[in-house]
Amino acid sequence: MMYKDYLWWHKGVVYQIYPRSYKDSDGDGIGDLRGVIEKLDYIKDLGIDAVWISPIYPSPMADFGYDVSDYTGIHPMFGDMKDFDELLKEVHQRGMKLILDLVPNHSSDQHPWFLESKSSKDNPKRDWYIWKDPGPNGAPPNNWLSVFGGSGWEFDEKTGQYYYHAFLKEQPDLNWRNPEVQDAMFEVMRFWLEKGVDGFRVDVMWHMIKDEQLRNDPPNPDYHEEMNSYSKLIPAYSTDQDEVHDIVQKMRRVIDDYDERLLIGEIYLPISKLVRYYGEDNRGAHLPFNFQLLQLPWNAPRIKAAISEYEGALPEFGWPNWVLGNHDNSRIASRVGKEQARNAAMLLLTLRGTPTVYYGDELGMEDVDIPPDKIKDPQALNEPGVGRSRDPERTPMQWNANKNAGFTEGEPWLPLMDNYRDLNVEQQWNEKGSMLDLHRRLLSIRAKEPALHVGNYTPVSSEGDLLAYLRTFEETSFLIVLNLGNSEEYFDPEMEWEGTVELSSNGTMDGQELKNKRTVAANQGLLIKLK
Ligand code: GLC
Ligand code: MG
Repeated sequence: MMYKDYLWWHKGVVYQIYPRSYKDSDGDGIGDLRGVIEKLDYIKDLGIDAVWISPIYPSPMADFGYDVSDYTGIHPMFGDMKDFDELLKEVHQRGMKLILDLVPNHSSDQHPWFLESKSSKDNPKRDWYIWKDPGPNGAPPNNWLSVFGGSGWEFDEKTGQYYYHAFLKEQPDLNWRNPEVQDAMFEVMRFWLEKGVDGFRVDVMWHMIKDEQLRNDPPNPDYHEEMNSYSKLIPAYSTDQDEVHDIVQKMRRVIDDYDERLLIGEIYLPISKLVRYYGEDNRGAHLPFNFQLLQLPWNAPRIKAAISEYEGALPEFGWPNWVLGNHDNSRIASRVGKEQARNAAMLLLTLRGTPTVYYGDELGMEDVDIPPDKIKDPQALNEPGVGRSRDPERTPMQWNANKNAGFTEGEPWLPLMDNYRDLNVEQQWNEKGSMLDLHRRLLSIRAKEPALHVGNYTPVSSEGDLLAYLRTFEETSFLIVLNLGNSEEYFDPEMEWEGTVELSSNGTMDGQELKNKRTVAANQGLLIKLK
């Protein structure tokens, strides 16, 4: 591909905002669109290219917005359509892009479509959802489980059938085998695309079509009692069916009617299955989210192998992407510790492919311990003890040392981290060597250097806890050496090299001239521009 052919989403960096927790402008303790607008200068100055905002649509909030009751509206708690239009305009004025979260697999049980569907067996929208007769003795139609615990089937007394819900019973799955459902959702996409939205992150893309014959999912031989109940089965028939690729391709066609819009898919699958979502001839999702860094142990050989496996599995022109954190997983600073979170940022922002930065990770925010009586996440409330709470990674953004970290004048919907007086944007913005400073510098170098935003990836041999690779574009090469462990390592690559440290994870080696074999201090990360 020629440099000029790379689009904004190849070169750029995505920033995920969980809107309930970003900035509250009206004192109700919940973040909102006007709050996000207030912070756009911050996001721009940080060096972000595109903002993905988790759902802002009308919703009963059973799953905090991932239960949509109106796909083309704005929840009053977040603002109104005027606020949205202003947000979009302000994002564009700053030269950034706005990506919405599309939740097509399921709606809210309060969506008018479902209310109609549920009203009688012969309602025209009955087949918009997945209704089935009971099995023998009134049992559910098959053994499929809900990700949030218990059976995936809910019985409806009135019409005597069950409906399927992969998540909460308040989130009935739409029937994507029905062309009317497809058209309705494509209309929704066009509604936002016409407004000028730059793309979608499609929620649970791999769930969208289920086995037509409703065959039982097989038991998972690796299941243990401390796992959530969903892990009892392997979702072989309830997810990732061949036909999903036709749907993704149709979504892509909708997107392709507009200029340079982006289709991201949320997909938790092994690499070999994940890369199929690029579609034949890349006519599927532009970026099937790559969640390996969320799942792998923090171990250099493992990560290195995973990078190569992924690079090797990508279809021709399939563009890579990397995710380090999101609203469903423990924060990186808690998973690997403060020191290594710096190397993680260096890794995310120097690997080949579009990075997604989760809000607050640029400060090193950690998971917040939520007292049991304050837990909000249905995943935890439904299955106490085994359902992991996602609240800890969803706490309010820490803006300054004032009350509630400057997030709200009211009572924050989730408690804040108690360290916010020392860990916040205001304090880190001007502090040389802070986590925020590291992010801003990495983002700035990445944006300036084609080698870092579109260059090739070449692994470099290394031992122990070292992870090393080259990024190269035309005559320019960067060598990245990250010590993912907490003891000194010896770097002895099978190559001659010489260069200048553009940036080191803890700032101690910036500007140094280095060459060939050398020791790399514990937790040290180096971004070296080669001569
Ligand atoms: C996705 C979302 C998650 C939500 C689920 C159901 O995984 O990221 O937050 O609970 O889908 O919509
Ligand atoms: Mg508010």
